[in-house]
Amino acid sequence: MANIGSYEERIKNFDWSVSEKELGYKPGDILNIGWYCSDRICQQGKADKIALHWEGLGGAEKHFTYNDIRRASNTIAAFLQSLGHASGDRICLFMDRVPELYIGVLGILKMGGIGQPLYSAFGDESLYVRLENAETSAIITQRKHALKVRKILDKLPHLKHIIIVDHDGKSPLRDREVAFSLEKAAPVEDFGSYPTTSESPSLLHYTSGTTGQPKGVKHVHYSLISQYLTAKWVLDIREDDIFWCTADPGWVTGTSYGIIGPWSLGVTQCVLDGGFSAQAWYKFIEKYRISNWYSAPTAIRSLMKAGDEIIKNFDLSSLRNLASVGEPLNSEAVVWSEKVFGKAFLDTYFQTETGSIMITNFPGMKIKPGSMGKPFPGITATILDPKTYEPYSETGKIGLIAIRPGWPAMMRTYWNNEETYQKKFKNGWYMTGDRASIDKEGYFWFVGRDDDIINTGGHLVSPFEVESALIEHPAVAESAVVSKPDPINMEVVKAFVALKPGFTASADLDLEIMNFIRKKLSPLAMPQAIEFVEQLPKTRSGKIMRRILKAKEWGEEIGDTSTLEND
Ligand code: WT7
Repeated sequence: MANIGSYEERIKNFDWSVSEKELGYKPGDILNIGWYCSDRICQQGKADKIALHWEGLGGAEKHFTYNDIRRASNTIAAFLQSLGHASGDRICLFMDRVPELYIGVLGILKMGGIGQPLYSAFGDESLYVRLENAETSAIITQRKHALKVRKILDKLPHLKHIIIVDHDGKSPLRDREVAFSLEKAAPVEDFGSYPTTSESPSLLHYTSGTTGQPKGVKHVHYSLISQYLTAKWVLDIREDDIFWCTADPGWVTGTSYGIIGPWSLGVTQCVLDGGFSAQAWYKFIEKYRISNWYSAPTAIRSLMKAGDEIIKNFDLSSLRNLASVGEPLNSEAVVWSEKVFGKAFLDTYFQTETGSIMITNFPGMKIKPGSMGKPFPGITATILDPKTYEPYSETGKIGLIAIRPGWPAMMRTYWNNEETYQKKFKNGWYMTGDRASIDKEGYFWFVGRDDDIINTGGHLVSPFEVESALIEHPAVAESAVVSKPDPINMEVVKAFVALKPGFTASADLDLEIMNFIRKKLSPLAMPQAIEFVEQLPKTRSGKIMRRILKAKEWGEEIGDTSTLEND
């Protein structure tokens, strides 16, 4: 029997106090996620249980018990305090998936800081806009990434320390750099966690917007209440399970379910710090006897592509609960997983802003391949008519996915941008910005986004961000960025560019522009192709119509072009 038991029973009179009680939390109590994910588990008699099996590139291994992560996070918390960082300060984590990243998040939370995890593949420009916006006071990083911080340091007056976790002890430390080694630091046995309460800020995750800079999504410690229960009921994590979340903590899945969910439940989790390879992934599952696996459609499609034969070389019988998030999970992938693993991937839906799973398939529930399932207990989700912002009175119609605010893990605001936050609400509903329909049995069917944001391999890319980078190149007059179909990533980024007079399109110029924007963008946001055009389609008011370019890429009807200026 799955943890959730019966969905129908659970949704009746559901109250989040179910989760509060299990966590021993009462409203008004001190609530610190760092403490909940380590000290509390040790107090429950699990100090010697493995919290983390870690494998790096080339097969390096490290293993940490709950007592190890308790002590190591104390040590990091105390070190940050000794440098003068205090509660409410933004502390960025900019690392590959090394143990210091996972344990560092707990350390920052324990000293009352706000953790700002950023994907380590970001270039210096992407890093800069996020550190500047958050007025980040320290960044914890590795030697190889510190180089990117050095480049932008002069523009970051608030950044007091660059903490390097793998300093070789020899090369000179530059301005504001300090070395910290988890292995060599004197362990701090006791650290009184900062008395954060439910509404104290915990994490700041940056997400792309259609216009303007990325937005910092502010979460609070109370998010634990949702993250704990969704990890238990959807990912079906149990005491003796071995859990693997393949997401990077630079993104919300990697913190909500790659740190907080499993560790607040006191289970063993595994981390593989390396790129994708079907062989390496299957081997990892076999080696650690992984029972619960949380991954993403692009990875699943890549596994499908690697073929069924290779699976026969591994013993994957430990797998019990498979789940997926981040982009549409096509029905073929669900059917395939049932065939090869004997289990369907459960499609789950949420956002950086929602902090925890909102709409999902549950273990034990009838799966309709291609559907995202039903709202989690306590979540009121509906489809609004885009004209009236009222819920449709009948089923089957495509409209906007909206959720009634008030669940514990919901964002509290966008950092320094309350105005944009307020715009996310209509008629008392939180607007996700996605489109879907609901069928007669209450299942949600995802249709697409309601904006120009591109979801490539589960990562959101703002066309605006790519266009801004392109426009800085001296040859570029104008650009428009849209998605184009791709068999693995579902969508990839494509750029249309109109050149300034005096410049001619050529393969060399294409390469030069690509190299130019590569320095500014995350590798995930890089266009797969640039197409040079004489001019871009525009409305009479001069607004570039991405819609037209996108429709061509997807082979769709172009629709109403009556407002077009230059067709
Ligand atoms: C957007 C949120 C949630 C963790 C990672 C993404 C899309 C998410 C699904 C799904 C179809 C999905 C939506 C959403 N998305 N899950 N199961 N099916 N689309 O977080 O970067 O904030 O992206 O990802 O468009 O709004 P994020």
